[in-house]
Amino acid sequence: MFRRGSVFAPGLVALGFTLGCEAAPAPAPTSASEPPPVRASAAVEPDAEPEPAPEPWSDAWLEAEASRYLDDPSFRRQALEASLTNPDNQYSRKRLAAYGHADRGWDGLPQWRPKVTQVTTPIVEQLRETGELRAPPGTPLWDGQRPTSLAAWVELGERVFYDYPLRPELFARHALANPELAASVGLRPDPSGRWPGVVVFDDLDGQREVGITCALCHVGEDAGGGLVPGRAHRGLDYGAMRLAYYRDSNTPISAELAQRMASWGPGRADITDDEDEDPVAIPDLWRVRELTHLTQAATLRHDHPAALAIRQETQLLHANRERARPPRELAWALAMYVYSLAPPPRADPPSASASATALGRATFERACARCHEYANGSGEPVSARSVGTDPALALGRARGTGLYRPAALVRVADAGPYLHDGTVASLEDLLSPARLEPEFRAGVRGPGPVVGHRYGMDLPEDTRAALIAYLGTR
Ligand code: HEC
Ligand code: HEC
Repeated sequence: MFRRGSVFAPGLVALGFTLGCEAAPAPAPTSASEPPPVRASAAVEPDAEPEPAPEPWSDAWLEAEASRYLDDPSFRRQALEASLTNPDNQYSRKRLAAYGHADRGWDGLPQWRPKVTQVTTPIVEQLRETGELRAPPGTPLWDGQRPTSLAAWVELGERVFYDYPLRPELFARHALANPELAASVGLRPDPSGRWPGVVVFDDLDGQREVGITCALCHVGEDAGGGLVPGRAHRGLDYGAMRLAYYRDSNTPISAELAQRMASWGPGRADITDDEDEDPVAIPDLWRVRELTHLTQAATLRHDHPAALAIRQETQLLHANRERARPPRELAWALAMYVYSLAPPPRADPPSASASATALGRATFERACARCHEYANGSGEPVSARSVGTDPALALGRARGTGLYRPAALVRVADAGPYLHDGTVASLEDLLSPARLEPEFRAGVRGPGPVVGHRYGMDLPEDTRAALIAYLGTR
């Protein structure tokens, strides 16, 4: 249940805001000809039948809520304030200073609709042969028409996810130009010859650039090597990609920074701009609609889709060095697309026996569910000290809250390496008491001998095996 008072439509809370305690509610039926649903708080004629308000987080509700974020500046400001778990970290302070003031700050930036095209194999080949980026001229990413159905929002969001450049990225351009480097840091085309996560676009100053997009980090691979949107790109070595540029172009870089980038390894990135050493594993974006908090340190409360839309709006704006802002429609569309992401069907049914799975489920209820309490396996954030994993991210100045969010356990068997910093290779390791031995730490990436999340280690070995079998069904 939502424990906190919400600024959003208090009437809806009374109607039962059950997100997180159950699976997302079934989509309410909608049709294009239906009038916009009336909210619970709207005045109605005394003898008129009130329209039933759409169930919060249903598809119909998401569609109806768009205009509050898009058209009401004071709603956006309230939504920002309500979403910040810790108003005192750098992330929050920056946004509180600049976001949602109609007369100053980021609201005054020009909107930017870049001309962009996804990188394709012919573009890469030409870059490799001539050093030039003569991409076919792209079209503006969006025609300026606001979508009118959830399906149309999702479709627009998919384009933003693949194509909207976060910023020009020399590192990616350099890697694309060098086949071995590109392959070693995880840049690769899909079967149709498009390279997800890298685009060619004309920047604000007219320069043609390579840019990176959401898809760089959030399109991963399945066991057969097929590309899966929403799955973490665990083969992406962003630190190595950046380091290679510095090395090959003889651009000076401090030894300390170089060492940090080298330590990230594949699947992790430090996306904060503080000086702390706190790289984070790229998460799978499964069932984000059900998360009560966003980011592993629970930086944002997710009471309303505006929390995610504002996260994306400000991420794009900040990544682009605050020179322009994305049209808000694109940020909302991105949120709707992220909500639409779900893991692909399982290739094989889980192989464990029914009795092992039943024992595992019972063990989970006893030993784990007090934190992993919601249907998706997530739960209310807990203090970083109590969970005992490396506290650098949770206590960091950038996005710290003092908390870690119990990770969602959706397709958890495929989600390793585990924990916010990706320091535990397998579920067997996570639950094994061997993790307490000093030898175990040798060769494990990440700082210091921190052994947190010790839950389940005291269970007999066969019970742990049953628990792992059960986790394999989630
Ligand atoms: C350089 C890699 C990278 C890029 C590019 C990137 N992300 Fe992420 N994303 C991450 C990492 C790492 C995290 C984990 C951050 C944390 O938990 O503190 C994350 C977290 C998230 C989350 C929160 C998920 C959760 O479990 O709470 C969402 C949603 C998300 N990203 C969406 C996007 C979208 C949309 C874009 C494009 C605008 C984008 N990301 C671009 C690496 C990236
Ligand atoms: C006291 C609360 C608490 C208990 C009890 C607990 N967990 Fe967690 N769990 C967390 C938190 C918080 C995280 C994230 C910690 C981090 O990333 O640093 C987490 C992370 C995880 C992850 C990592 C998922 C990923 O994708 O990285 C798994 C798997 C997991 N827990 C399984 C379990 C199992 C199985 C049990 C029971 C034996 C259990 N947890 C008990 C709080 C708890």
